[in-house]
Amino acid sequence: MQAGEGIRRASIRQVAAAAGVSMSTVSNVLNNPHRVLASTRRRVEEAMDQVGYVRNSAARQLRGARSRVIGCIVPNSANPFYAALARGMEDRLAEAGCVLVQCSTDAQSEREARYLQILQEQDVGGIMVSPVSVGLERLLTVRGRGTPVVLLDRERDHTDLCAASVDNVAGGELAARHLLGLGHRRLAYIRAEKTVPSISDRAKGIDKALRSAGLEPATALTEVHVTPATTDAVASQAMAGLLACEERPTGVICFNDHTALALLRGLRQHGIRVPSEMSLVGYDDVDFAAELSPSLTTVRQPTYQLGHAAADLLLSEYRSAHTHQQMLFKPELVIRDSTRAPQA
Ligand code: RIB
Repeated sequence: MQAGEGIRRASIRQVAAAAGVSMSTVSNVLNNPHRVLASTRRRVEEAMDQVGYVRNSAARQLRGARSRVIGCIVPNSANPFYAALARGMEDRLAEAGCVLVQCSTDAQSEREARYLQILQEQDVGGIMVSPVSVGLERLLTVRGRGTPVVLLDRERDHTDLCAASVDNVAGGELAARHLLGLGHRRLAYIRAEKTVPSISDRAKGIDKALRSAGLEPATALTEVHVTPATTDAVASQAMAGLLACEERPTGVICFNDHTALALLRGLRQHGIRVPSEMSLVGYDDVDFAAELSPSLTTVRQPTYQLGHAAADLLLSEYRSAHTHQQMLFKPELVIRDSTRAPQA
């Protein structure tokens, strides 16, 4: 016998026989339960359990019902930020009887395209995307074919897509103002090389804070690009950039907490003490940020709420034509032990 042969799913006919009702009654219990007496509905549901019936979503979808599987495409689902984001989405989707399927692009455009294609072929009920590319034509095409799309972690100043994001310009400004307020005048921003708007927007906020303090970003800020990889690889890339500076920065902002963790390792390997010789600010406030030694000053994103809100926007569109919304959440600065005034 070949694998899978002989394993057959229970049919509606078997349910009807077990419950002693017609097949149309079983169909009504599945699709129009309000048309069936509660006692009959209970008898049919007990028969479904008894014969092991599982409703066939493909058949439902053939009748125009939307799939209850929702896709989510992010750069890296292993990053605690995206794990917290997914949890917010899952909890909101579960309230509507939907489930989440998450895919990681590693910021590769071709992978994003492939996942979008696969999810559409599976006729998912909608897709939430933290886009790789700046342009959104690809997503507008998906939306135009009838699959609801919500932008994640991306502000959207147009009304042709729903979006849920955090104000990253404000986040970068919070981090820089904190260091400037401590007296730092030479800053560095460690950012992903293949950047996405949310990471670039943080740089805009840092520039804004420097200019407000009367400093010129071209001379007061060094940007170091890293390629997200293993912690050791990021540590060595970040350290190479910092050590190459003619005048070493005294305060460093990392585009996320993962990078701050890597830099902490690199600084320690080079005998540079945090915060006495170098202040360090992260971004996201993932779980480990408070547990590091020294504990990490960081910009907290309301990540769970962001995921929950994105799923809520998707369900709103999933259910009916609606007016697209662009939700913008505020970040907050969490001051811990990794920052202090620069050495005199
Ligand atoms: O940790 C991943 C980071 O990249 C997060 O800050 C998220 O906002 C994305 O920009």
